[in-house]
Formats: sequence, C-alpha cells, structure tokens
Amino acid sequence: MIQTQVREQGLDIAALQDKYAEKSPMQILEFALGQFENIAISFSGAEDVVLIDMATKIRNDIKVFTIDTGRLHRETYQFLETVREKYDLEIEVLFPDTAKVEALVKEKGMFSFYQDGHKECCAIRKVDSLRRKLANVDAWITGQRKDQSPDTRASIPVIQADAAFSTQENSLVKFNPLANWSSAQVWKYIRFNKVPFNELHQKGFVSIGCEPCTMAVLPGQHEREGRWWWENSADKECGFHSMNSVKPN
Ligand code: ADX
Ligand code: SF4
Repeated sequence: MIQTQVREQGLDIAALQDKYAEKSPMQILEFALGQFENIAISFSGAEDVVLIDMATKIRNDIKVFTIDTGRLHRETYQFLETVREKYDLEIEVLFPDTAKVEALVKEKGMFSFYQDGHKECCAIRKVDSLRRKLANVDAWITGQRKDQSPDTRASIPVIQADAAFSTQENSLVKFNPLANWSSAQVWKYIRFNKVPFNELHQKGFVSIGCEPCTMAVLPGQHEREGRWWWENSADKECGFHSMNSVKPN
C-alpha cells in the first residue's frame, strides 16, 4: 500500500505498522503521545471519547479539537461540554469559513446534500476546517475503526502516513489506535471506566455525524446505514478519511 512505503518524520511507517498491528489502543497512544509533542486528537463527540479518556491517563497536556459544522445535534454540543468539564480540557472548536457556507446556502439552500450528495457541503463545513488544523500539527489521532465500515475502513492500519493532508512543508502522521477494536470493545471500555457518552447513543444512534445526515438505526442494521443513508455505502467518506477510498497500488 502507498503509505507503507513512505518514511514520515523520520519514522519507518511500514515497520511501525508491523510492530503496533497487534498492540492495544493504549500502547498505540503511548507511542503516539510519546513520539510527537505537536499531536492532536480529532474528536467527533461520539464514542471516540475513549481516546480522550485513555490519552489523559498518559499525558496531562493533550490537545483535542473538534469540527463544528453548524449542523450538529444539541446532544453533541452538550456532550462536548461534558467532556470539556470532566477532563478539564480545552477543546479547540473549529468553525467553517463564513463566506463559503453563506454562498453554498444562498445558491442551493440548507439541504443541498439530499440532492447533490454530501461531499460539497462536507468539503465546506468539515474538510476545510480539518485541513486548516492539520497544517499546524505533526500528527493526528482519530477514532476510526475497521468495523465502522466494511466498504471503506476494513483495512485501515493503526498508523499511516497521511497522504491526503500532508503538504510539501508538512508531512503528517495519522494514528488510528482503535482500528482493530470492535464496537463491543469500545463500549465495554466506556462502561468499565465510567466514561461519559453522548446521549444520542441512548436514543438508537450508533455512528454520529451531523443532524440532517445521521439517523438512528434498528437492531441488526449496520451503524454506517445511519449515515448519509441516501447514498451508496462505498461513497460514505466525507473527505476526513478520503485515503480509505483510495485503492492500493
Ligand atoms: S466521518 O468521516 O464518517 O464523519 P466518523 O464519524 O466515522 O467519521 O468518525 C471517525 C473519526 O473521524 C472520529 O473518531 C474522529 O477522529 C474523526 N471525526 C469525525 N467527525 C469529526 C468532527 N466533527 N470533528 C473532529 N473529528 C471528527
Ligand atoms: Fe453537510 Fe451533512 Fe456533511 Fe454535515 S454531514 S457537513 S450537514 S453534508
């Protein structure tokens, strides 16, 4: 795969992928937070809160950011506050470019994604902000897991060179410490460690994104079916993790 051949920030990514493939999320985080000073957790306000719980047990100066698209659920905003208070954290909240959002809404209204697909709106409301943030860090940590999407995430490694957001000036490393955990393992951790969670999880929501693009799922339905449900499963990456949709050479 492309990323296994790259050396990023002096790290041999291929060797690290082998070394950490079977390690626990905590061990992967210990490595990530020990290796990089300028590293941040990308927090969506869902069950990826386990990363924050684990990371605060390793370092007391972790950096966390979240992208506010302006379309999140009330429960998610409340949960961000709960996490901020419980862990005594500064959560950096990134907002989209006002002019771009205004132009999109002026031209196409508030729900253009139901007709045009989600990528245009996500690019403006989510991905632009992420790119802005990632230009200023050396590495980032996500809560992606293989079991979240058989179509796009089945082979994500626990560490990778970020081909999507690296620039000539900044080669970026991406950590996915939960890649090999199942949803059941994440929830076991949450319950066992009394980690706070987004109330939406008690209302049938499993995967959580923006309010107009997220639905509760029925028992037995895959969690990804609750996201952008009007689109094909293979198209359900918003640009945050666009590398997942790139076919290996
Ligand atoms: S998405 O790309 O389809 O929206 P998903 O909701 O599965 O992603 O979340 C996977 C990981 O992407 C999260 O654990 C988090 O690291 C990152 N992420 C997703 N949405 C956000 C957000 N709004 N702000 C910060 N990080 C996010
Ligand atoms: Fe827009 Fe929906 Fe993407 Fe949120 S998830 S940025 S509302 S298309």
